[in-house]
Amino acid sequence: MADPRPIIFSGIQPTGRKHLGNFIGAIRQYVEGQDRGDPALYCVVDLHSISVPYDPADLRERVLDTAAILLAAGLDPERCIFFRQSDVREHTELTWLLSAVTSHGDLDRMTQFKEKVGKARELASAALFYYPVLMAADVLAYRATEVPVGDDQRQHVELMREIARRFNARFGETLVVPELVVPEVGARIMDLQEPETKMSTTGGTEQGTVLVLDDEKAIRKKVGSAVTDSGHEVRAAADKPGVTNLIDILAVARGTGRAEVEADFDGVGYGDFKRAVADGVVELLGPVRERYEELRPDEAALEATLAAGAEKARAIAALTIAEVRARMGFGC
Ligand code: TYM
Repeated sequence: MADPRPIIFSGIQPTGRKHLGNFIGAIRQYVEGQDRGDPALYCVVDLHSISVPYDPADLRERVLDTAAILLAAGLDPERCIFFRQSDVREHTELTWLLSAVTSHGDLDRMTQFKEKVGKARELASAALFYYPVLMAADVLAYRATEVPVGDDQRQHVELMREIARRFNARFGETLVVPELVVPEVGARIMDLQEPETKMSTTGGTEQGTVLVLDDEKAIRKKVGSAVTDSGHEVRAAADKPGVTNLIDILAVARGTGRAEVEADFDGVGYGDFKRAVADGVVELLGPVRERYEELRPDEAALEATLAAGAEKARAIAALTIAEVRARMGFGC
């Protein structure tokens, strides 16, 4: 018998400053998953945003920015369930229930938490510490089998797998242990100026971070000034992080592999290579930006899309939560 179709779930933080790393590592996987998933669920995780200082009115706007970016990138509400996390209250309830099988030590080991708080541990919100439990609830509420993410979410997915296993061992077989899915090429896109650091709007450099909504001029400037390495060969190698990153970006933009890019640019100088990468990125992101400009102004339509998605999501999550509650000894 053929494998059953996967249940796919992924989440993305609300910001209009989504970057090429998000696009290559995650968003393009979401689009691809729509026709495989039964269902594929994608969620703008606004509840996660309150783990750091934020402005409520701004948050509402950033959710709509992100929704418009994802729809512009190719999410189709007819082929996936696309919603806002806070519209489905089951996520919050399940977070608390799952905390019974999550240890303080598990959360204390999370490298993203350590990186984010640095030395200011005492000042970090409890929400930031708890962030991975909410992530586990996001996924486990839908009994998802696949979680498409970039490489930086690996540890969080490992923890949600452990939480599901522990819940099942303690209360009986209820939750599904999901699989991590990272793309073969582009799971970790690096900052163009500091290719030892991952591309990020919070930790990276402004000039080294290509935003999905950057215009052609900005993209060409950023890619054109990308740091390359000593030597002149277009070849992926551990001691050539800058060039390797650009090779990965071009491979994704062209839909090929590293080897094809290396072969195509054999003997070509870095200047021409970078121009080709810029062309590739412009072609990849240009249509997304154009479509975004069309979609973003119609806030009522965006809200309606998210509300319709939330209704579908709630219907699934409610069934899981009812079973979890019963297993844990709560009333109906
Ligand atoms: P967020 O919004 O920070 O990032 C969204 C997705 O982009 C990926 N990503 C990258 N991929 C490649 N190269 C990079 N430089 C790069 N930077 C980011 C991330 O891995 C992610 O897949 N905690 C999550 C959101 C979340 C979630 C979930 C994800 C909440 N609940 C449940 C999966 C399942 C986050 O902050 O993503």
